[in-house]
Amino acid sequence: MMTAELDTIAQKMVADGKGILAADESSSTIKKRFDAIGVASTEDNRRDYRELLFRSTEAMKKYISGVILFDETIRQKAKDGTPLVTLIAEAGAVPGIKVDAGAKPLPFCPGETITEGLDGLAGRLKEYYDLGARFAKWRAVIDIGAGIPSYTAIRTNAHALARYAALCQEAKIVPIVEPEVLMDGDHDIERCYEVTEFVLKETFQELYYQRIRLEGMVLKPNMVVPGKKSAKKASVEEVAEKTVRLLKSCVPSVVPGIAFLSGGQSDEEATAHLDAMVKLGGLPWKLTYSYGRALQAAPQKAWSGKAENMAAAQAAFTHRARMNSLAALGQWSSAEEKKAA
Ligand code: 13P
Repeated sequence: MMTAELDTIAQKMVADGKGILAADESSSTIKKRFDAIGVASTEDNRRDYRELLFRSTEAMKKYISGVILFDETIRQKAKDGTPLVTLIAEAGAVPGIKVDAGAKPLPFCPGETITEGLDGLAGRLKEYYDLGARFAKWRAVIDIGAGIPSYTAIRTNAHALARYAALCQEAKIVPIVEPEVLMDGDHDIERCYEVTEFVLKETFQELYYQRIRLEGMVLKPNMVVPGKKSAKKASVEEVAEKTVRLLKSCVPSVVPGIAFLSGGQSDEEATAHLDAMVKLGGLPWKLTYSYGRALQAAPQKAWSGKAENMAAAQAAFTHRARMNSLAALGQWSSAEEKKAA
């Protein structure tokens, strides 16, 4: 195993003041996002939109360490024929690839899923490496509800994450290990804490069994937050304090960095929570962002499928990226939000 190469890429992904742009929406997810702004989800529109992001030079150079791509995108070329991967690499960011095949119903566990995609993964990773990917992502989904999650779902998903991570490291690709506990539902913050703790403990146990080099991976967890429909809201300070306490009790300090998913939080919540955690200080790993919606909702809305809105969309993306960069440094404030992009 090329340990030095893996470690270097993992460190680059969580470099100070930089975070990851999750632009790996599957065809069905990007269609949902485009439907919301009245744009047809054609291959050209998907390309134009993503090209706009990757050509946001200031954001890409200063605030983005890596970009997670979908299979279609890693093979696509910009309008002028330059591969999109080249645009990303030229901006100094690391190209990455989503390799899971999505969450499918888990037998005998109603309402729960197992993430598929291990069959043939070694071969696909080799191809993605040749296409320029240096890290990958696999998302396990754990839902909270009446009687769930089951141990069956937690264990099976943790095992699949660890098998994926091993295949990645063997292919010289840094695995982003993403066990996402969803924030749908009406559970309180304590329940999110308890479930996420179980999921992370199980995940690191399985990573150990699969002989994963922890220095050569990045963890992508949810924050500890109440369910969206919970009557009990939590303050920014409470989310920060609980999330950091949980991570300290579950994530070994040799892991170079933790890059959060936004998971349906508002743009500003996702930024404020990250900032508050970094401000707590005394952390053994880097904390940063690997946001999809919290980086892209604003530029998508500004773009709305119109070429003439490109500059406004790029400005909206740059603004969100800058806010999250400040948060990853513990230097964000709501006053910064008000400054024009
Ligand atoms: P969100 O930040 O929108 O949750 O997306 C991040 C991601 O990559 C989910 O797998």
